Amino acid sequence: MSKRNDSDLWRALESTGRSPNLSTIKRLFEKDPERASRMSAEQSGIFLDFSRNHIEPNTLQRLMELCQQSHLSDQIAAMYAGKKINLTENRSVLHTALRNTTPANDHGLTQISFDVKESLKKIKIISDLFRTKQLTGATGKSLNTIINIGIGGSDLGPRVVYKALKNESSSIVHYVSNLDAEDLETVINEVDAERTLVIVTSKTFTTQETLNNANRALARLSTQLKLPKDDIIRKQMIAITASPETAINFGITESNIFEFWDWVGGRFSVWSAVGLSLSMSLGFEVFEELLHGAHEMDTHFATAPYEKNIPVLLALVGLWNINFRKQTNLAVLPYSERLGLLPNYLQQLEMESNGKSVDRSGSRIDYTTSASIFGVPGTNFQHSFAQHLHQSPTETPCDFIGIVNPPHSDQENANALLSHCLAQVECLSFGRQETSGETKISAESEMPGDRPCNVILLKELNAMTLGALLAAYEHKVFVQGVIWNINSFDQWGVELGKSLSKSYNHIFENDGMGDVSQRAFSERLIEQIGKYRPSSAE
Ligand code: F6P
Repeated sequence: MSKRNDSDLWRALESTGRSPNLSTIKRLFEKDPERASRMSAEQSGIFLDFSRNHIEPNTLQRLMELCQQSHLSDQIAAMYAGKKINLTENRSVLHTALRNTTPANDHGLTQISFDVKESLKKIKIISDLFRTKQLTGATGKSLNTIINIGIGGSDLGPRVVYKALKNESSSIVHYVSNLDAEDLETVINEVDAERTLVIVTSKTFTTQETLNNANRALARLSTQLKLPKDDIIRKQMIAITASPETAINFGITESNIFEFWDWVGGRFSVWSAVGLSLSMSLGFEVFEELLHGAHEMDTHFATAPYEKNIPVLLALVGLWNINFRKQTNLAVLPYSERLGLLPNYLQQLEMESNGKSVDRSGSRIDYTTSASIFGVPGTNFQHSFAQHLHQSPTETPCDFIGIVNPPHSDQENANALLSHCLAQVECLSFGRQETSGETKISAESEMPGDRPCNVILLKELNAMTLGALLAAYEHKVFVQGVIWNINSFDQWGVELGKSLSKSYNHIFENDGMGDVSQRAFSERLIEQIGKYRPSSAE
């Protein structure tokens, strides 16, 4: 068992976190009105205010000592240099190399830099052809619509960015991920089959959901266009994968394959060819800006002092709330419809990376790791779960994200959104307990406040700031993983479900027959499913 509280530093933080004398957020501001100016950091048009957390200056100091104790700067250097820090898979973790186009700073990764640049060239060529209507489908018509088929990291990254950045001149991209056939069917019925390019995105090219949807899309396009599947595959199907042989075995034409590499984790892959749908739809230059924004954050992460380092601060605040204040949820609340999928993206990024219970040497750990993340854009959540955030005895830390100059020109609307954002932050952190004028506030109207919040302001929402924001959260995950001493880059916990589902499928396909040991767990459910199914005699 790997224990954290055998360290004096960890024990000191634990005792501060549960001390009855811990100052309220309100009191912290009374003691130090300059707190908000001190407890902030800025980089690439992103401003973080983390002052509304129960963190006194000496606590922050101790939290930063955790970074030193965990040799964070060595670990960052090891990641950037391509050391095999993903121990269970014996792989490097080099998503930062995907956005480092500056040769002087490539940590000696010459071959990798070369491969990345070649891949970008290929992405640019096809993106330009597509956007100038020179890419034609099986009937000779130019292609103008994309269906990206993929799931998890092969879906969420491009999906979140597309929703955030698309505009009138973007080509339409539909993202299909779910095994439920309804997902693809809805899309395929909507598109013009002659003008639709299908991009099958899968790092392994073995993922059931993706292969099912790819086969279904192929069959549907072939039927609609009355053309052999081979014609559709050659002219209207592209694969993005780290396993080109598997894609070729699946039937994809070799020249239609865009490769990425095993040193790119699925949930860190939007910066690779996995972002192809973005480059084709929004333009290569937009994709490049996304990479530049992320690279700026990479440099900031590796060089800024911890007290002004956005990813480090996000990580330390999160860790403080999770491990020392026992607040194990995190609500991500973007005040932007365009950033509406950010909570979904962060769910995979943080929970798949850090939802672990063994340390890097394989010993069980006795402390909590990733928070459970949920979120909905403001102002929608204000009319659904905000009540719980404000008055439930369960305290949920929040990340509020506001956009100061949104892509549209409706200043009034931007003001209204920002006002709601700041109002929620104020209610949550300061609450309302005293009498209001003459009238005593009733118990049900009392607002306890004192709930921790981060506020992140984006000067604008564009490819640069979005790239920087996503990279900041990636590095937050890294820092937390380093301090928790876990491998943030594998995901073994998702495997058992995949193989068990095959046995269940066998049971259903064979009319209730199959693996008896599995039936023992689910016998009653299988029986009920059988009852609800029309019998073959009917
Ligand atoms: O099942 C989890 C997972 O392996 C994720 O880590 C990954 O992003 C997703 O499935 C999709 O995998 P692939 O890109 O290989 O299809």
